Amino acid sequence: MSKSTRHIVIPGGSGFLGRGLAAFLAEEGDRVTILSRQPERSHDLDERIGWRHWDARTLGDWAETIDNATAIVNFVGKSVDCRKTPENKRVILESRIDSCRVIGEAVRRAERPPRVWIQSATAHIVGDPSPEDTICDESTPPGPQDEMAPHVGVAWERAFQEAKLAEQRGVILRISFVLGAQGGALQRLRTLTRLGLGGTVGSGRQWISWIHQHDLNRLIFRAIDDSSFEGVYMTTAPEPVTNREFMREMRRAYRRPWSPPAPALGVRLACRFLLNTDPELALLGRRCVPTRLQEEHDFSFHYPTVQAALEDVRKREQVDPG
Ligand SMILES: NC(=O)c1ccc[n+]([C@@H]2O[C@H](COP(=O)([O-])OP(=O)(O)OC[C@H]3O[C@@H](n4cnc5c(N)ncnc54)[C@H](OP(=O)(O)O)[C@@H]3O)[C@@H](O)[C@H]2O)c1
Repeated sequence: MSKSTRHIVIPGGSGFLGRGLAAFLAEEGDRVTILSRQPERSHDLDERIGWRHWDARTLGDWAETIDNATAIVNFVGKSVDCRKTPENKRVILESRIDSCRVIGEAVRRAERPPRVWIQSATAHIVGDPSPEDTICDESTPPGPQDEMAPHVGVAWERAFQEAKLAEQRGVILRISFVLGAQGGALQRLRTLTRLGLGGTVGSGRQWISWIHQHDLNRLIFRAIDDSSFEGVYMTTAPEPVTNREFMREMRRAYRRPWSPPAPALGVRLACRFLLNTDPELALLGRRCVPTRLQEEHDFSFHYPTVQAALEDVRKREQVDPG
């Protein structure tokens, strides 16, 4: 099939990663359809990108978009950037599992189901390894199942495996912290850094595994047609850094001087009372590497270092402040 006739369906494509990927694919000549609970938000998007309403849980007219599509790239999931209340935990898990299940139902009904289903997943499935320097890749087993991220990570991937057709190519992207100009957790770090609050967080020894959004888009673009992509991928740049290094590079990219460190207790209080999020997202980390992407696919990262990635993100913000 020629590139220009590809049709890519992106459930959950209204968010940070989905909008970025949709724009990238449309620019490359693909037809894109985003499935959203609120497609009316589509007014600011490219005309080449279609939007359909769904509820992410039950079959409906939207399912016809799956029939004859080239690929599904599922980005659905309530953001984990929130406090881990019982209600938030429930929605984080259910949004991921329900969307996989109902996409699977649509795939089963399709006369010509997509040959490939690319599924977002999380690098946090490995938990928060101890010692902190432990290197994690696709061969690393999931973290303890009484911890939320490994528990959700395992249930999410299992739901995907159960939902996809046996003959369909399945690609699971265990994505790390995505660095992009138009959203994601970097936005908050950028604001703090600009305010002079971009110091080392906690011990500073926790690892940050990250990937530039452009490399993620390039990877997905390639995996849609390249049938050698199958199974689980640690989707991260080859050079993870400690929090101390990451914050230093943030200050450098945003032209800020040394900033005072943020002790763990202060971070916990700020997350609880000001930021309304989970402090462990900042205080813990993992050192992940993309073994399969590099060894099996020779994937070349345009942004292999955090210096290059952050400098580029800052430039992109200036071109398009969002
Ligand atoms: N960004 C990262 O650094 C990162 C890292 C690792 C993994 N991931 C994973 O990659 C996926 C996309 O990430 P993102 O940063 O683009 O997230 P995002 O901006 O929060 O977008 C996720 C999309 O999922 C849909 N959604 C949210 N809550 C939902 C719910 N309760 N039920 C059904 N749909 C819901 C929303 O679409 P509508 O509101 O339009 O329906 C939303 O636009 C997520 O699954 C995320 O966990 C992201």
